[in-house]
Amino acid sequence: MTAQDGLPLFSAPVDRAAELRALLHHHAHRYYTLDDPEIPDAEYDRLFRELQTLEAQHPELLTPDSPTQRVGGRVLDTLEPVRHRVPMLSINTETDTEPSGALKFDTRVRRALGLSDTDAPVEYVAELKFDGLAMSLRYEDGVLVLAATRGDGEVGEDVTHNLRTVKSVPLRLPAGVPPVLEVRGEVYMRRDDFEALNERQRARIAAGAKGEKTFVNPRNAAAGAVRQHDSAIAAQRPLSFFAYGLGEVTPSAQGGPQFTTHFDMLMQLKAWGFPVAEQTALAVGADALVAFHQRIGQARDQLPFDIDGVVYKVNSLALQKTLGFVTREPRWAVAHKYPAQEQMTQVLAIDVQVGRTGKLTPVAKLAPVFVGGVTVTNATLHNEDEARRKDVRVGDTVVVRRAGDVIPEVVSVVLPQQGTERGPMFIMPASCPVCGSAAVREDGEADHRCTGGLFCGAQRKQAILHFAQRRAVEVEGLGDKLVEQLVDGGLVKTLPDLYRLGFAALSQLDRMADKSAQNLMAALERSKQTTLPRFLFGLGIRHVGEATAKDLARHFGSLDRIMDAAQDQLLAVNDVGPVVAQSIRTFFDQPHNREVVEQLRACGLHWEEGAPAPVTSLPLAGRTFVLTGTFPTLSRDQAKERLEAAGAKVAGSVSKKTDYVVAGADAGSKLEKAQALGVTVIDEAGMLGLLADGLSATGAAST
Ligand code: IVH
Repeated sequence: MTAQDGLPLFSAPVDRAAELRALLHHHAHRYYTLDDPEIPDAEYDRLFRELQTLEAQHPELLTPDSPTQRVGGRVLDTLEPVRHRVPMLSINTETDTEPSGALKFDTRVRRALGLSDTDAPVEYVAELKFDGLAMSLRYEDGVLVLAATRGDGEVGEDVTHNLRTVKSVPLRLPAGVPPVLEVRGEVYMRRDDFEALNERQRARIAAGAKGEKTFVNPRNAAAGAVRQHDSAIAAQRPLSFFAYGLGEVTPSAQGGPQFTTHFDMLMQLKAWGFPVAEQTALAVGADALVAFHQRIGQARDQLPFDIDGVVYKVNSLALQKTLGFVTREPRWAVAHKYPAQEQMTQVLAIDVQVGRTGKLTPVAKLAPVFVGGVTVTNATLHNEDEARRKDVRVGDTVVVRRAGDVIPEVVSVVLPQQGTERGPMFIMPASCPVCGSAAVREDGEADHRCTGGLFCGAQRKQAILHFAQRRAVEVEGLGDKLVEQLVDGGLVKTLPDLYRLGFAALSQLDRMADKSAQNLMAALERSKQTTLPRFLFGLGIRHVGEATAKDLARHFGSLDRIMDAAQDQLLAVNDVGPVVAQSIRTFFDQPHNREVVEQLRACGLHWEEGAPAPVTSLPLAGRTFVLTGTFPTLSRDQAKERLEAAGAKVAGSVSKKTDYVVAGADAGSKLEKAQALGVTVIDEAGMLGLLADGLSATGAAST
């Protein structure tokens, strides 16, 4: 301990320990609960280690509320049963996931309270329904003494050793709290913490660790952590906590906490340092409940943790008392669910689909299941590694997830009983399932690709659909059914073939009335007048999306200039990096792609072209400098910075390509080499002159 800490040099260990505990409590609350730290992590760690050292030297100073206890270490043989002093209730669940679910609850409450239609609306608190585990935290004289699971509501299990490791659970409360205070809430795992945990688990399994497994979902991982016998393990499974209610409370000498509503109680819990979800809101009347349900439903996928619904609670504690309970469920609260985002179903087959660029995607064909609000029959397995990592096999029962608008995916396999026969493990076929061309997986890539290019019917269909889509040249009415017929019937092999289709050929297709054929002919005709960005995007060059197509068009002004641009000219375009530039080059280096472009132009596709955008090149662009020795005014770094800002490249060694060597005092071998190669050598003043000239030159150019 030093005087720098602003503390007396010789404060007694007992005082310093108390002080450190208080400091650490304060900063942990700022960090974990308020998300607003006041000190850097390193400073927190330093205080933490100081307390650890002090406690190691003076074990009698170790208190149960010490933040050092959060790292865990207690190993129990069994979890002790705990009888709840105030039972832990459950909640009536409204399974009607439509807005009517909220209206029904309000109607029940109003009826039970004897309110008529003309009476004022009831005030509620709307909360999130966290998908974790209910927990009761008991504080005596402000110190956490017990954390218990819900169990059957009467008797739970003592999991204090594990809950102490949860950073957002206060171990000690501020002065003035009731002598006995039980806080009820939910312990849960954030989604990012869950992903990171599973990542670590996978690494362990890959490293050969025995008995390790990955977790199905955050709830499952949280449940496993809470019931650990070894709190050091729990400490490595990052849990979080939200408070939403009270259990036993004995009033303090001053008369106990003063609040008459559920909302004020939550605000009091927050003031005492408990995390209360920020979405918690007052809602007056049934319409406000419906609005809350809808608003949270839309935000659900963006929340950092899982919820399975919302909870409505009558705000007035007096009215709660009046309403009372039916069996174990309060009449004043209800859980209003959302459609489940995960369901179990069976894998009927694993198909391989071919994308526009030839990417092969394994797709699980599923027994139809209603999940996330729609019926799902397909779920992506992404690629071979994913399919094998999850070890999904035909016949398996799997957990399928569909959240928001994302593509449904297989989360995990529900493993059958040991000894049950399973199908073989998935392997990617060696050839494309559509055209039979070789399927290859390039080094460092996760995806297999069909090498068939436009020879592959699947790629051809996708390429045509891509070209004809609204954001590309837009051929109205050219949908996948039609493209399928055109490609399978051999009528369209390349994009220009589309424009050579005659009315006769079209009207002969299945379900193609004369009128539709005419409409399609007209749509094809309209699509001929397009824009350069649309046409470019429509070509389906890998990595060239709409935005890049626009940037390219703006930069070069004409298609020919783009087709002929060298790699480094492409790199000068906004947001075009080496991968995109290479992809564009590769595309236009293939004669058949140039041929397609020429034929499309010959078919009448046209667009307006313009001049290339003015090149705002920097004064020293393309010049290479080497710096050596010590300069009179600038440091080497400053000189380098100035040169680079003017567009120059600053290299480490001299070669024939070097334009200038800038030599200062004590210049060494680089200077000799420059002289030997005949490279121009200048001093700092010369360099500053070049910078100034360069700048005035641009100044002149821009006027
Ligand atoms: S209140 C008096 N509020 O849902 C009602 N419960 O059966 C006591 N849950 O296991 C519970 N979020 O773990 C309440 N905002 C919330 C909740 C919530 C999740 C869980 C709780 C309990 C179940 C209710």
